[in-house]
Amino acid sequence: MAMATATATSMFLPLLGCLFVFFHGFAGASHLFYEELNTVEPTSVSEQYRTAYHFQPPKNWMNGPMYYNGLYHLFYQYNPYGAVWGNIVWAHSVSTDLVNWQPLEHAIYPTAPFDIKGCWSGSATILPNNKPIILYTGIDTQGRQVQNLAMPKNLSDPLLREWVKPAQHNPTMVPNGLNASSFRDPTTAWLGKDGHWRVLVGNKRHKRGMALLYRSRDFVWWVKAKHPLHSSKDTGMWECPDFFPVLKKGQLGIDTSVNGPHVKHVLKVSLDDLKHEYYTVGTYFPNKDRYMPDNTSADDGTGLRYDYGKFYASKTFFDGLQNRRILWGWMNESDSVNDDVAKGWSGVQAIPRTLWLDKSGKQLVQWPVVEIESLRGKKVDIVDKVLASGSVVEVPNVTAAQVDVEVTFELPSLDQADRLDSASLTYPQLLCSKLGHSNTKQEGGGIGPFGLLVLASKDYEERTAVFFRIFKKAENQHVVLMCSDQSRSSLQEDVDKTTYGGLVDVDLAHGSKPTLSLRTLVDRSIVESFGEGGKTCITSRVYPVKAVGENAHLYAFNYASAPITISKLSAWAMSKAKIN
Ligand SMILES: *[C@@H]1O[C@H](CO)[C@@H](O)[C@H](O)[C@H]1NC(C)=O
Ligand SMILES: *[C@@H]1O[C@H](CO)[C@@H](O)[C@H](O)[C@H]1NC(C)=O
Ligand SMILES: *[C@@H]1O[C@H](CO)[C@@H](O)[C@H](O)[C@H]1NC(C)=O
Ligand SMILES: *[C@@H]1O[C@H](CO)[C@@H](O)[C@H](O)[C@H]1NC(C)=O
Ligand SMILES: *[C@@H]1O[C@H](CO)[C@@H](O)[C@H](O)[C@H]1NC(C)=O
Repeated sequence: MAMATATATSMFLPLLGCLFVFFHGFAGASHLFYEELNTVEPTSVSEQYRTAYHFQPPKNWMNGPMYYNGLYHLFYQYNPYGAVWGNIVWAHSVSTDLVNWQPLEHAIYPTAPFDIKGCWSGSATILPNNKPIILYTGIDTQGRQVQNLAMPKNLSDPLLREWVKPAQHNPTMVPNGLNASSFRDPTTAWLGKDGHWRVLVGNKRHKRGMALLYRSRDFVWWVKAKHPLHSSKDTGMWECPDFFPVLKKGQLGIDTSVNGPHVKHVLKVSLDDLKHEYYTVGTYFPNKDRYMPDNTSADDGTGLRYDYGKFYASKTFFDGLQNRRILWGWMNESDSVNDDVAKGWSGVQAIPRTLWLDKSGKQLVQWPVVEIESLRGKKVDIVDKVLASGSVVEVPNVTAAQVDVEVTFELPSLDQADRLDSASLTYPQLLCSKLGHSNTKQEGGGIGPFGLLVLASKDYEERTAVFFRIFKKAENQHVVLMCSDQSRSSLQEDVDKTTYGGLVDVDLAHGSKPTLSLRTLVDRSIVESFGEGGKTCITSRVYPVKAVGENAHLYAFNYASAPITISKLSAWAMSKAKIN
């Protein structure tokens, strides 16, 4: 019965985005604290890269999200004192539509011995009596990572502004026998049929990454299970684990406590060593409390990603109002720390994405929440337009720096696809940067590159190319590569211009007129792309100097030797959201 209650009330399930250890140009971890930069006032607060409809706080360093009771709550990791990492608190904003946000006072901040050195990431759970409760990582007086509880001070306050941290219960989990520097980011809890809550905490032992399992009957006394829910050797620290069920059929989301034969489970981890997130699709065995990824899902840091670009520290939550599971991810900047200090801010949230299991059962599909379409304004359409080999066609009359584009390409006969050995396909990102996109058709292949040039200057000197290229692996076996190439995105030197890429799992040989679709959300310094209805997603951060504001242009291009047809392209001017 507790189970049923939990399900019924879980429309309020909140979550908190993750965490903390990411810095510009600093690979290989830990808590680099830019002490001297923490109090610097921004010198030239540049507004041109400040996003118009992606969430960001008024200033300073941020990451991570949450949701509750008819209102979406976004709790995020925030440095009140500077655009660098440090002094981490839980900042708080609320929204009725996931688009426009109102800021509130900080929800959780260091006050007690169990969190005096920082309030890091965690998650919220709704208890069966409709009481939200948060588990978060505190840094205690000894610098250890411990897990703490927080609850709303006044449940009658619809905004849940104030949170208390009961001293008699905290810390609820301490790193006994564990590495106290690698013990963090509790998940949303789920309730078993036995009436016990379960929660995961990220951890590593030597180089083995693991999701530790804790159980509790009352949410206060937690006991560590003998075995982790899952672990994988040589993957390093698992940050921000997320564990949730998805329906085998359909796009609806379900509460975190649901299980049964109609359900698969997903385990996502943010790999601290690689600075990327990976997920597997698999089965959760509740009687053993173990999770087993399917044999189509690699758990060794080479597998599936939500996003093959910039996307980290993400969390999902179940939105019972609309029966969907929503994914929030955080993306950091690609410019230098000094630039961030000058801009006065760093880090943004990706557009929240609805997520469900693909028909194949092998991967997830993601799509921007429908609410974002409320910002769509003036629309431009292009229909049945042939893109000859080597052509670039402008999409006119759009606010190209702030636009939502959806396009479907119709492909020629797949016979013209170039041959590629399977070994080259192991590292799609490498393939994308090697092939790149180009201005000259000689460098193009049989089918592709074709796609969009976004945030492009009139002379193309600056441009970010989001494109596809199709290869033949064997007779009648095709592979679709999707790339986001920002190698020419900016005339600025000291920004990261890594080209990103991923494969799109689609059966093209099927059907007489193969098509591929692409949606790209452009927001000043963000290029967020969804290939083939959200099967493969890539997010880039770019900082053009010419292609800004009115001087930004949008083009469709085809550098392949075979012509490609735009069967339909729609581009909408995007309005500015009200954010903080
Ligand atoms: C709790 O919140 C409600 C609604 O905002 C308010 O009317 C009430 O005074 C608050 N109670 C306390 C003890 O602060
Ligand atoms: C504990 O974790 C920290 C942070 O990753 C690491 O530097 C340290 O080597 C780990 N200690 C042991 C004993 O594994
Ligand atoms: C993977 O698992 C499925 C059943 O879930 C099985 O039919 C298939 O043979 C397995 N493939 C391999 C390569 O083990
Ligand atoms: C943040 O961005 C930098 C530079 O673009 C990159 O090297 C780093 O790995 C990123 N960190 C995360 C967590 O994404
Ligand atoms: C773009 O605007 C110009 C001038 O208003 C107009 O002539 C042209 O038809 C428009 N093109 C499209 C595709 O809307």
